Amino acid sequence: MRVPPCDAVLCLGDVLGYYCQVNEVIDTLRAINAVCIRGNHDQMVLDEGQVSPDDAVRFGIEVARRTLTPQNRSWLAQQPLALALSLDGYRALLVHGSPWDPLNEYVYSDSPRLRELESFQYDAIAWGHTHRECLIKTARGRWLINPGSVGQSRTHRGYACGVLLSTRHRSARIVRVPYPAGRLVAECERLGAGLWVRRSLGHRLPGPVSRGMTDDCRRRG
Ligand SMILES: [Fe+2]
Repeated sequence: MRVPPCDAVLCLGDVLGYYCQVNEVIDTLRAINAVCIRGNHDQMVLDEGQVSPDDAVRFGIEVARRTLTPQNRSWLAQQPLALALSLDGYRALLVHGSPWDPLNEYVYSDSPRLRELESFQYDAIAWGHTHRECLIKTARGRWLINPGSVGQSRTHRGYACGVLLSTRHRSARIVRVPYPAGRLVAECERLGAGLWVRRSLGHRLPGPVSRGMTDDCRRRG
């Protein structure tokens, strides 16, 4: 996968909890010194409580709980729920869900919450959780950013989605990089994943794909 060059990677959580490349993802984030926060799926992995009845979520959480190394579990537990940081004087707030409920609230592009976010004193507020991109420049020149999802975009399947932020030019743009999901699908199926994995990732692969795949996970993250 070719990613545009950048000085820092900011990751908005849910590094685990879908699919099966558990330690590979965390090892990569650690190797590049990514700045991370915790998402609701990461929390589900850390908690020993019951998991969602959703097949995809249950599979991802169970695989992660089974395979996560002690070192990577410790790293995950150390990630904050929200993070305010300054990048060359550019102030940014990172949360997974929302500033009011960092793990679980969904803020979509039509949410009234966007108006409330505009009043926050940050140059950029970035959140995730919806797997849907949202990029807004406010009248004050601030950015409201949901980069979508690297591993499971719900707007551009087959692409890893993110946002490239320039602190120098105070600009932001959406970036989409195609990624081949075939190896991941095969690995998940080897570990017992059902047809949902093809519905979620396999739209470009040969084989059975159910109808309605774009709606089956519309409002969850
Ligand atoms: Fe999430």
